[in-house]
Amino acid sequence: MKISVIGAGAVGASCADNISRRELSEELILLDIKEGFAEGKAIDMMQTAAYNGFDTKIKGVTNDYAATADSEVVVITSGIPRKPGMTREELIGTNAGIVKSVTENVLKYSPNTIIIVVANPMDTMNYLTLKSSGLPKEKIIGMGGALDSARFKYYLSQELNCSPADLNSVVIGGHGDTTMIPLIHHATWNSVPVTQLLSKEQQDKVVAATMVGGATLTKLIGTSAWFAPGAGTAFMVESIVRDQKKLISCGVALDGEYGQKDISLVVPVILGKNGWEKILDFKLSADEQAQFNKSADAVRTMNNVLDL
Ligand code: LAC
Repeated sequence: MKISVIGAGAVGASCADNISRRELSEELILLDIKEGFAEGKAIDMMQTAAYNGFDTKIKGVTNDYAATADSEVVVITSGIPRKPGMTREELIGTNAGIVKSVTENVLKYSPNTIIIVVANPMDTMNYLTLKSSGLPKEKIIGMGGALDSARFKYYLSQELNCSPADLNSVVIGGHGDTTMIPLIHHATWNSVPVTQLLSKEQQDKVVAATMVGGATLTKLIGTSAWFAPGAGTAFMVESIVRDQKKLISCGVALDGEYGQKDISLVVPVILGKNGWEKILDFKLSADEQAQFNKSADAVRTMNNVLDL
């Protein structure tokens, strides 16, 4: 079985590293347009195999899409990352062209693959990939929600002084600083509502920090983050290739769920061998639904730039 990661920048390399450490496929192709770049990163990662104990064969290639043939899952990380002060939305012009041509090339060799879109602005890039690929909607999945939910757990764990793994909390809406909705009223610490454990001030602090989680890191690092995006992607890939049916917040095309259609937004979905297999369409409070609709409006405005 083969998995391919397109783009060998920091995020692509972190995806490849996390996927191979989890041994999610026998073969992993890392592809980049820059001559020798993916080859070098692949060899560097293969040289961790002796200590990290994995048997996945990572192969780096320069623009050779034939090497990705018959991939079960393809992760698209290509595109430019944001710089400090930039929003994800400002990347749209450059990244739309890149993501579209990458998708075309991927489909030439893996016409039935499942595609995970990591490129930003994720909600629009995911919808663009769906529209331009012609693949069934279940096979196109945006990554942002898994990442934002992990950030939400991190900030909650800081306030609660607990293990992030003991938290159950999700982010829905969009993968943007103002469009994501950390569902604080649904968050629990081993089934105890966090709203009973944190003051209103603490709750607001966690929600605000989660929403700008990516921007905070971009400011600190000078470019966008890669460790958590790579781990989030691998977590999604694992649920697909092992058919685990995990419930994960992902970007998917909606068809009436949560009152929206003809748009990709982040909602909780079950990931299994067929891609996203079911949307968990649970009832939001009036306030949460209003926030969700507002996020949808913002993402739609972005989609309109590309005539989607
Ligand atoms: C972030 C980028 C990957 O949120 O969107 O870090």
